[in-house]
Amino acid sequence: MCGIVGVVGREAAAPRLLEALRRLEYRGYDSAGVATLVNGHIERRRAEGKLMNLATVLDRSPLPGTTGIGHTRWATHGAPVERNAHPHGTPRVSVVHNGIIENHAELRAELEAKGQCFETETDTETFARLVDWHLQQGAAPEQAASLALRRVHGAFALAMMFAGHPSKLIAARQGAPLAIGFGEGEMFVGSDALALAPLTRRIAYLEEGDWAVVSDRGAAFFDAEDRPVERAVRLTSLSGAAVGKGNFRHFMEKELHEHPAVLGDTLQQYLDPGSRAVSLPPLPFDPATVPRLTMSACGSAFLAAQVGRYWIEQLARIPVDADVASELRYREPPLAEGGGAILVSQSGETADTMAALRLLRAGGQKVLSVVNVPESSMARESDGALLTVAGPEIGVASTKAFTAQLALLACLAIGFGRARGKLDEAQARLLAHTLTEVPGHAAQILEQDEEIRAMAAEVAKARDVLFLGRGALMPIAMEGALKLKELSYIHAEGYPAGEMKHGPIALIDSAVPVIALCPTGPLFEKTASNLQEAAARGGRIMALTDAVGARALRGFAERVIVLPTVHPFAAPILHAIPVQVLAYHVAVLKGTDVDQPRNLAKSVTVE
Ligand code: F6R
Repeated sequence: MCGIVGVVGREAAAPRLLEALRRLEYRGYDSAGVATLVNGHIERRRAEGKLMNLATVLDRSPLPGTTGIGHTRWATHGAPVERNAHPHGTPRVSVVHNGIIENHAELRAELEAKGQCFETETDTETFARLVDWHLQQGAAPEQAASLALRRVHGAFALAMMFAGHPSKLIAARQGAPLAIGFGEGEMFVGSDALALAPLTRRIAYLEEGDWAVVSDRGAAFFDAEDRPVERAVRLTSLSGAAVGKGNFRHFMEKELHEHPAVLGDTLQQYLDPGSRAVSLPPLPFDPATVPRLTMSACGSAFLAAQVGRYWIEQLARIPVDADVASELRYREPPLAEGGGAILVSQSGETADTMAALRLLRAGGQKVLSVVNVPESSMARESDGALLTVAGPEIGVASTKAFTAQLALLACLAIGFGRARGKLDEAQARLLAHTLTEVPGHAAQILEQDEEIRAMAAEVAKARDVLFLGRGALMPIAMEGALKLKELSYIHAEGYPAGEMKHGPIALIDSAVPVIALCPTGPLFEKTASNLQEAAARGGRIMALTDAVGARALRGFAERVIVLPTVHPFAAPILHAIPVQVLAYHVAVLKGTDVDQPRNLAKSVTVE
């Protein structure tokens, strides 16, 4: 979280920094700021809140200069007010920072004892003042940066600019991503290649512990021991075209409507519609023999992984552990010898998932990541990566990337089932055929917008909402609750339907909507009984089911959304869509910030 950019250019830096920050706003929108070098002096403009506030400040008070740095903030240390907005620094050095400097309190005390006066509570200012102290002792910028970097602990990415050095930036990476962009007589720094795409497509990534001196003539890279190193320059496939909302009100609405296309594009990578066979590229572990798999991720991506676990265990009979990444890291799990792991992430940058990746690799597991960003840290650090083809997802709440993850995991489960000899060719073909119909069914579901909106009008009045599901639909019930919470700020719980009677049933009264995900299938009767139990306590039953299920539930359900009748294997992918659409409409009705809900950021690069 937090996005950082830097430019050593030939044109005015501030508008370019602002444009790059626009493409990084998904990383945080608590405050934003830019600093440039004007006649060798550091000048900055900052604003609390979203980037448009900074744009207004810059309109009123433009910032000249061709070298500069910029930042969009997701607050960690210090309240989200202008005083704590980046860049931070002194008249000699200006710093933008993503991540956390863990030993900032100790360094601050040390610097205060040396007479340095602090203006903010941020960990970033500690780093800036540490560099400044070395500059005051006569160190050159490179030396000051190197000495300061040796003292700081934590996971971060940094960019620094120095008064009196008009064509120089220093960038450093330790645990948070950072890209260097190569232009014609100009150079760029950015948290990701997407931010730099309008400026250049030639990108080099800093590796762990690297730092770089960036000038108008190029970049010199150094490792953590200050040894010069080479870092490959690659051509990114990302487009510099602005990502727009089209005719939609929100990015999220547009992204919801992209479900059919994204599902089709992702399935096409791994499924031949002609032969109806799943074809997987070589994987880092052999699914025919791997003794055990560990799956891990965060948030919605973890819920996709949980569905994947159900599918892989059912179809391939491979034992699978699934843990949220922030728990896996500290649980000290015993890992199987020769085991494999599957990590799931839209951004490919989530700090907890990255840490799980490193832990699993260090534990001898062969790691496959399922990511949406090909150049991401996870794609680069894994033993192998498979790509979802969801395109850029701008809405902070994951939608199309989530269903794309499910589609890919479904292909993996079929492929593993075949490799393991647990599915014969006809069974695998039937399941693959089921998947080829998913994009069409997704389009049908999107046409039910009116009915879902009517349900949303009821849900929007609630204070608490319960989502229920069984089997592979249980994680989708949790996805429904997560989406509703983050978008509309209504308290919601996702529960295994059978668990309701062991506690959450105490919450149920006539004010609590109970939303069940219950297509007909082997578990339908059981879930229907749980709904009867909720109805008997006055709960307001709302169901997402198919035509047959609807007939059985209509007697006691207040609302039923009738989804296409599909094979139970495809049901989790298709049920994810209406719960996301529901959360969207509730948020619109409540007037919350749909694309950038409060307190959230899209790529969570702090632990
Ligand atoms: C929820 C959401 C988050 C992300 C989570 C992981 O709508 O978007 O829960 O799923 O932060 O992010 P990635 O997939 O980038 O690792």
